[in-house]
Amino acid sequence: MSDRSTTICPYPASGRSSLGVRKRVLVTGGAGFMGSHLCERLIAEGDEVLCVDNFFTSGRQNIEHLIGQKRFELMRHDVTFPLYVEVDEIYNLACPASPIHYQHDPVQTTKTSVHGAINLLGLAKRLRCPIMQASTSEVYGDPRIHPQPESYWGNVNPIGPRSCYDEGKRCAETLFFDYRRQHGMPVKVARIFNTYGPRMHPNDGRVVSNFIVQALRGEAITIYGDGSQTRSFCFVDDMIDGFRRLMATPDDFTGPVNIGNPREFTIRQLADLVIEMVGSTSSLVHKPLPENDPLQRQPDITLARDALGWQPTTALEEGLKRTIAYFDRLLSSVP
Ligand SMILES: NC(=O)c1ccc[n+]([C@@H]2O[C@H](COP(=O)([O-])OP(=O)(O)OC[C@H]3O[C@@H](n4cnc5c(N)ncnc54)[C@H](O)[C@@H]3O)[C@@H](O)[C@H]2O)c1
Repeated sequence: MSDRSTTICPYPASGRSSLGVRKRVLVTGGAGFMGSHLCERLIAEGDEVLCVDNFFTSGRQNIEHLIGQKRFELMRHDVTFPLYVEVDEIYNLACPASPIHYQHDPVQTTKTSVHGAINLLGLAKRLRCPIMQASTSEVYGDPRIHPQPESYWGNVNPIGPRSCYDEGKRCAETLFFDYRRQHGMPVKVARIFNTYGPRMHPNDGRVVSNFIVQALRGEAITIYGDGSQTRSFCFVDDMIDGFRRLMATPDDFTGPVNIGNPREFTIRQLADLVIEMVGSTSSLVHKPLPENDPLQRQPDITLARDALGWQPTTALEEGLKRTIAYFDRLLSSVP
């Protein structure tokens, strides 16, 4: 099935993608937070999905509603090992994404990014199919320029506790562009900025999920530092829309392209908003900033606007409402 124009479709035309040809799409990390939303979107658009995950930071619950659907297939597999499957498109999302998770086994984190990229690029090369890498704003490290355009090379500590993730992702980008130069492959690199939404892990220490869970439990909200550091938050539906648009670009568009919400909030503002929306009585407690935690991060999305016609459309209040509703259901289902 390496030639997309000749994909054989065993199902009726009603379920076909907008191209009229059903695609078989591989999503690695497909059971994770963003991966599960991507799988859902692809199925809704008429594609077949092969979801590959080793469940390191996720469980079947994120994709439970898809299991049993005839266009969805789940495979437990670790991307640090080669994968032999037949697909028409690849999204490579497999990687622990939050500091708690990626620092748990830093060597495995680097292996997942680097060996994972090698294995999936090898697969894409054999199949001659497009492949998108879920890269990250962490490739900019603690940036010296603000907001960050894609042309900025970053300010990354190569030997710190975050390096397994940051440098792993940077090396994966290198591999994507070397495969492009060496083998002419249609690669796409998305530099993802902070994304939030339903199905985030409740205990992974990421700021949005942390604040919401603490507020719902009526616990004190933990702010690292004085809360004046800023972040921008992109709702997951907008992010998935960005992925789809990036994958639909012509083969000569590779990125890297920043995908994220340029609207900045201080961590303190986020905490206040969450407390207000949850209607919580939580107080605020301050703890020291973790090592190498960037003080400011904001995407320059000019390229995404121009090349993908993309910009986020979900306001923080709306995204938080849906995320709070998700965590509320989740926490009330736990005895
Ligand atoms: N969420 C964000 O704000 C954000 C920001 C920048 C980049 N990203 C990137 O987007 C991707 C998805 O992130 P997420 O937030 O959905 O995280 P997540 O932890 O929910 O999802 C990652 C998935 O990858 C799986 N995985 C980890 N190691 C694997 C391996 N060796 N083999 C197979 N599967 C493996 C996990 O089990 C999980 O299901 C990651 O690559 C992450 O680095 C996320």
